[in-house]
Formats: sequence, structure tokens, C-alpha cells
Amino acid sequence: MKFEILCKDKKARNGRLYFNKGIVVETPVFMPIGTYGVIKGLTPEEIYSTGSSLILSNALHLFLKPGINVIKKHGGLHNFMHWKYPILTDSGGFQVFSLSNISLKRNNGIIFKNPFNGQKFLFTPQQSINIQYDLQSDIVMCFDECPKYPITWDQANLSTRKSLSWAIQSRLQFDIKKNTNALFGIIHGSIFKDLRDFSIKNLIKIGFDGYALGGLAVGEPKSKLYDLIDHICLQIPKNYPRYLMGAGKPKDLIESVSKGIDMFDCVLPTRNARNGYLFTTNGIVRIKNSQYKNDDTVLDTKCYCYTCVNYSKSYLHHLYLCNETLGLRLNTLHNLCYYQNLMLNIRNAIKNKQFETFKHNFYLQNK
Ligand code: GUN
Ligand code: ZN
Repeated sequence: MKFEILCKDKKARNGRLYFNKGIVVETPVFMPIGTYGVIKGLTPEEIYSTGSSLILSNALHLFLKPGINVIKKHGGLHNFMHWKYPILTDSGGFQVFSLSNISLKRNNGIIFKNPFNGQKFLFTPQQSINIQYDLQSDIVMCFDECPKYPITWDQANLSTRKSLSWAIQSRLQFDIKKNTNALFGIIHGSIFKDLRDFSIKNLIKIGFDGYALGGLAVGEPKSKLYDLIDHICLQIPKNYPRYLMGAGKPKDLIESVSKGIDMFDCVLPTRNARNGYLFTTNGIVRIKNSQYKNDDTVLDTKCYCYTCVNYSKSYLHHLYLCNETLGLRLNTLHNLCYYQNLMLNIRNAIKNKQFETFKHNFYLQNK
């Protein structure tokens, strides 16, 4: 994978990620989440129709279910899930904590209880990197520890150093496997700028194909989040992609782009879609509300997705109340289209050197 910056508008960047087989992905980019190798409810053709061409999946989840040998037999995750475009895999360091509360931290990894069969095992950086290799992931993430918020400086210091040691081991294992895809380092340090600086400096020394901002959007106040993003972005060498992990809301994306972030992932558009929480250019629509029972207008007049072209809010309301699978699918299609249209508008605004105006107008329309 190669990265190139096409143009800048102040700190906001428009660039390109070049993948194998000539696939190009423009940045800033939003990656939908397909934890188990599926964006819930959608076929790959439908995912692509939303404007998504780089998706995220999770090494740990796929390792537990269906197991890596099943996917290896298909020659990797792309073949297994019939997805022709690039895949970024998260390493599992973060997901270990969401899957099981019986996870014991060790210096060489995390002792983890498989929630499906109760078996305990040690999950290590080497194992995570090997799994991501077997998945044929286009962008591999280092194995790391995502600390909670808030934590003390001393706790954050230990955690940052542990993640750094795991980053060194991840780099080593990636090179031992002669993996020719991309490996991203993950910057940690909680809200402490000195620890963030320490993390960045050392990750750059090791050398990665891109740098992710980890341990953010975990409950810290927005002002702290934005200030940290700014502080961190200024220190990442400019020719490398910068990836903010796990954020966020449309406003978070816009703020982060204005500080120099190139890549995002978040469960928000897909998870909220399944809960009937729909993003539109006229604000949020909670489709279960009785006000939509007789509303024969489309969900979003500025959206040209399959849902908006063909169905009324009244019908989407009805599907929601019937707990109908089609409702989940139509809502997911629309929310992903909304996010990808937002990213397209962001990229165009940067190209036209109008990003500040775009941001101002977006905030006016989405108070
Ligand atoms: N997703 C959101 N935050 C994080 C993080 O800090 N590390 C990893 N690996 N994934 C994340
Ligand atoms: Zn739509």
C-alpha cells in the first residue's frame, strides 16, 4: 500500500491510498465495520453501492468464530466473504475487553476466556499478527492495549510502554512472516501529552506504513479529544496516513479532518441504523416515532440511495414496528450512504479549498 497527498486546505488533507490490483481509495475515508466479515444485513455489492471500498474487520472475533483455518481454506477473508476491495483488520487488543470481562493482562499478551466455549488462552502480539496474515488483511494493526478513561498518569505510562513493546513485537512478527501488505502502529498515552509524545517518537523510530490514534473517543470530553488529535497530528510525519480509531459522530469526523486525520471507523452508522436512528441532511430521524406512521415523504431528499429512491418514511416506520429484516437492511444502506456522502463532500470541500466554509455550513444545518 502506498499513500499520497493530493492537496491540502490548511491542515485538512485529501489523499489516496493505493492498494494491490490497482485499487485506489480516496481519503479522508470512512470504513464501515464488519466485525465478523459481514456488514450486518448487506451483501458486498450493497456495501460497495454505498460508496464504501475499504472496510474494517476484527482478527479476534474471526479467530473465535469461525476460526482461522476455515478462512485460510478459502485463501483469506476476501474470498471467504466475497469482498474484492481492501480490508483493514483490527488486532484484537481493544476487542478482548468488549468480548469478555474475564481477561487478565500479562506483559506478553492477554489471558482471555473464549465466550463461546469457556476455554482460556493467551492472546499475544505474534498470534494477532499471524491471524491478520492468514486473513490476508490489506492493513494490519499492531496488537495494543486500549486503556479505559480516566486512568492515572502512572497507569497510562505502564500501558503505553506495554503497547510500545507489543508494537515492536508486532513489527518483528510481521517482518518474519514476510508480509508485504501494510502495518499500522497505534499511538497511545491516554490524555497525557507527554506519554503521547513518547509513544509517537518511538513508533516512528520503529517505522510503520501508517499511524493510528488509539485510546481516544473512550469517554473523555470533546475539547480534550480535539486538542489531543491536533497535538498528535502535528507530530506524525506528513506523508503517512493518520487513522483515528473508533470515532465517531459526523461532527467528530469533520473536526478531526480539520486537524489532519485521514481515516475513520465507527459502528455508529450501522448500529444506529439497526436501532432506527437515521442520519439525514435534515437532522436525525428516529423512525419508530409515531409521527412517521402516515409520512409518505422520502427519508432524505438529498440522498439517492436505494432506500431514499424507493421508500417512504411511513413504510420504514412500518418495517421497524414489524421488526422486519428488510427494515434493518434499508436503514443500514441509507446510514452508510449518508456517511459516505459526507466524506465525499468533505473531500470535495478540501479540493476546492472550501473546507472552513463547508464546516461552518454543516454546523449551521446540524445544530
Ligand atoms: N478501536 C478503538 N480504539 C482502539 C484502540 O485504542 N486500539 C485498537 N486496537 N482498536 C481500537
Ligand atoms: Zn438514503
